[in-house]
Amino acid sequence: MFSKDFIWGAATSAAQIEGAEYEDGKTSSIWDIASRMNDGRFSRFQKTPLSSCDHYHRFIEDVAIMKKIGLKAYRFSISWTRLMKENMNTINPKGLLFYNRLIDALLDAGIEPFITIFHWDYPQSLLDQGGWQNDKSVTWFAEYAKTVVELFSDRVKKFITINEPECFVNLGYLDKRHAPYYQLPEDAVFKIAHNVLKANGLATILMRQVAKQKIEIGQAFALTGAIPFSENDKDINAAKHCFFNHPDSSFWGTWFLDTIMNGEYDKKRLAKISISPDVLDKDMRIIHQTPDFIGFNMYSGTLTKHLGENDYQRMPDPIDSDYTMMDIPIAPSCLYWAARFLYEKYHLPIYIMENGVAITDSPDENGDIDDPARINFIREHLIHLSRALKEKIDVRGYFYWSLLDNYEWAHGYSRRFGLVRVNFENYKRTLKKSAYWYASLIKSNGEILEKERVDKNYGNL
Ligand code: NOJ
Repeated sequence: MFSKDFIWGAATSAAQIEGAEYEDGKTSSIWDIASRMNDGRFSRFQKTPLSSCDHYHRFIEDVAIMKKIGLKAYRFSISWTRLMKENMNTINPKGLLFYNRLIDALLDAGIEPFITIFHWDYPQSLLDQGGWQNDKSVTWFAEYAKTVVELFSDRVKKFITINEPECFVNLGYLDKRHAPYYQLPEDAVFKIAHNVLKANGLATILMRQVAKQKIEIGQAFALTGAIPFSENDKDINAAKHCFFNHPDSSFWGTWFLDTIMNGEYDKKRLAKISISPDVLDKDMRIIHQTPDFIGFNMYSGTLTKHLGENDYQRMPDPIDSDYTMMDIPIAPSCLYWAARFLYEKYHLPIYIMENGVAITDSPDENGDIDDPARINFIREHLIHLSRALKEKIDVRGYFYWSLLDNYEWAHGYSRRFGLVRVNFENYKRTLKKSAYWYASLIKSNGEILEKERVDKNYGNL
């Protein structure tokens, strides 16, 4: 069912695991600054990414753990403020050395690196100049992305330009829930979203020009599944319509993805903004860069029922839904439906760039960590994903979020997503049962899924 080259992976991001926040020339990202704001805007836990998992000093050990699990690929991000000096024009040699050593260690271990170029840790020095609100942000980002490809594409073939634009734009600039904790009017946020799209487009153009070998470029969009209430055509179409429908006062759903793919804004959004048709036309040509694959992060989904022509109802979560520590319901078929809807619409290879669960796991008296709920979560999601493969939907890989327990942004260190436990006092790593289970799953290339199927018993959530 899973092809022999199916990519079994795990993902992390720089700010969430590296630590060494101000070492070897790294300067501040907006998260370094925001996590120190002492006015109640940030984290109930007042934690900073100061040392995170200390991966910066322990990456050799972490790569050995990945090898032990048998990962085929590892998705990590580059810290913009570590790779570049504060002026963002010159390379920081020590930052470069770190990423070169990490990439070489991965390749030596037979693990394919997937590089995320930007995973939320925007340079504070650029925010001070207006950040995404400044039109120069387009070239700032594109030049940085080009540098990443110039430096690493001799050894790395897969690049993700931006992680979850939906989240950092909506939560960071509209809803005041993530760094930089802004609450701007909708038209200002539209400009930010427009610049992000343009930056992604220009980056894609430049990256393709300078790549040292054939590379594949995509994004990791934050999508929520729409699951048909029943499998009759009406409900399936209603779910599909809901999945691709955009709310008109925010930037959630497939809005970023569809704009890139279609090279135009949806009409109802366009009606609300003032942008001259000439500029729009020119910008759209930059924005409209078809990626080589569609990457998305997905953690949940909502049941959707047909109501009438192009009309649907999002149903309340079923009474027996299990909720993760992030307060979202577990809905494993979301992966199948999203892969199917996206493939039917765009016919591009698909990667699940993130899927995972935070639960209350803790070591027993022997130090072992039994996390059946996580095993169950992964198993159920993959069983549904395997249906997509059986139906010849071109899903190329699955990345569990996350390899390590880590810094969960505004939640500090209170949400543990890892296959591997990190003790944040002494940074000791312990493989959880789920890591051993994932290892056997990878070893069997997914074969053990069906044999082990258990219906819904999420245990210690
Ligand atoms: C999405 C983000 O990309 C990642 O940084 C975050 O930790 C996970 N989801 C879990 O919330």
